[in-house]
Amino acid sequence: DIQGFIFDVDGVLTDTAEFHYRAWQRLADEEGLPFNRQANEALRGVSRRESLLHIVGDRQYSEAALGEMMARKNRYYVESIQTITPKNLFPGAIELLQELRQAGIKIAIGSASKNARTVIEKLGIGNLIDAIADGDSVALPKPAPDLFLFAAKQIGLDPDRCVVVEDATVGIEAAIAGGMLSIGIGPATRVGAANIVRPNLIGVHLIDIQAQLKLAPA
Ligand code: BG6
Ligand code: MG
Repeated sequence: DIQGFIFDVDGVLTDTAEFHYRAWQRLADEEGLPFNRQANEALRGVSRRESLLHIVGDRQYSEAALGEMMARKNRYYVESIQTITPKNLFPGAIELLQELRQAGIKIAIGSASKNARTVIEKLGIGNLIDAIADGDSVALPKPAPDLFLFAAKQIGLDPDRCVVVEDATVGIEAAIAGGMLSIGIGPATRVGAANIVRPNLIGVHLIDIQAQLKLAPA
């Protein structure tokens, strides 16, 4: 049976995917690099460095310049997350977290972001979470399974006892690579490879998930 849930943060628990997008857009505009909301779709769940490399494309920058741009984007992003409060949790998130906790399910965070802890704190859900795997936990970014395997280990569970909740294609790929079940949040064009696909967390209940996962073996 399912014993643990591993939640991505940005775009799953709250709308920080939008804040990441705006920070990248600001940087791209300043650098005169072509970028827009559609191009940003490819960056969902992707690490800071990989995201920047994707945006600069063929343009040549020194390592120092890349480092400065990553720091600048992060300043914009960190500035934008200061306003986050528990009201910024996506609808259904707190209900699901509380239900899982009451059912004795372990809850971990599996986010590529080095800012995940700050976001969790600002959302006021630290007390509902058993372990955090973030952008500082492992070397290889999603779609490698390392981050989720690290999270599972933190909560003392085998991967096949865990369900990953993700909004990114690379996140679902990471869950599959790690031998975990997955719930994709968003359109099937993005998270269609997940065992279960839902538009958001509204009305997502453990009992339904368990039933659906039995019908859809990994
Ligand atoms: C992921 C986001 O959760 O974290 C990406 O979906 C982001 O957009 C990545 O690039 C890394 O985040 P950070 O905060 O370490 O730059
Ligand atoms: Mg995400």
